[in-house]
Amino acid sequence: MKIILLGPPGVGKGTQAQQIARDYTAKHISTGDILRDAIKKETQLGRKAKEYMDKGELVPDEIMLGLIEETLFGGHPKANYILDGFPRTLPQAEGLTALFRKHNTEIDRVILLEADQDEIVSRLSARRVCANCQAVYNLHTNPPQQDGICDQCGGRLVQRKDDQKETILKRLKVYAEQTAPLIDYYRDKGKLDPVDASGSPDEVYTKLKKILGKIS
Ligand code: AP5
Repeated sequence: MKIILLGPPGVGKGTQAQQIARDYTAKHISTGDILRDAIKKETQLGRKAKEYMDKGELVPDEIMLGLIEETLFGGHPKANYILDGFPRTLPQAEGLTALFRKHNTEIDRVILLEADQDEIVSRLSARRVCANCQAVYNLHTNPPQQDGICDQCGGRLVQRKDDQKETILKRLKVYAEQTAPLIDYYRDKGKLDPVDASGSPDEVYTKLKKILGKIS
């Protein structure tokens, strides 16, 4: 299984990818998580990425393409994975297609998660993440048992810097301008499955399973 989860910030890509990874024994590859980990470790990549991420802008394509090639094909190539947050621009999508061709493989499906802007802003404003284990919560729909404390590891819950209202709106603008063109790119390839992601996580997952059932 090789799938891409496409969709605006906060639509629930990470939430759904984790569930798929658990049920289908696939690797969840989130470029956002990889970059945040690099920032935490203060690597060269992390220092560069932080400049862009804090402002809600995209990290340059050449950095991201190098990162994804190393992640997918460096060391032990992975057989089953869900790409969450990559590709995000046309050059990234074209680069990924070329990379797959070079390695004699291809993407199975591209699942487009869609929800309206008010819902997205509400989800992101209420998101909290564990500073220690990165578990994701939502103050409205998935609150922790104890205020500000991670249920899984007891770590401190924090708000992502790019989840401030102004930066959320910037990220949505960047999505509309630079990532939304990928919808036509993958539709033209006959790979796209749009899914209404406005319901609860379980309702959305039920729809995804129907699509995944045709692949695996
Ligand atoms: P990244 O981390 O990928 O952020 P994003 O795409 O903006 O997506 P999010 O993680 O914000 O949201 P999500 O869709 O995963 O939603 P989630 O499941 O958490 O990227 C961050 C930054 O890194 C970028 O801005 C960029 O700078 C850089 N970057 C990353 N990849 C890059 C690339 N390829 N090229 C260049 N730059 C790159 O859910 C959100 C909240 O809603 C949670 O609280 C959750 O609990 C809740 N929720 C989820 N589903 C539901 C539901 N169905 N109902 C109610 N609540 C829900």
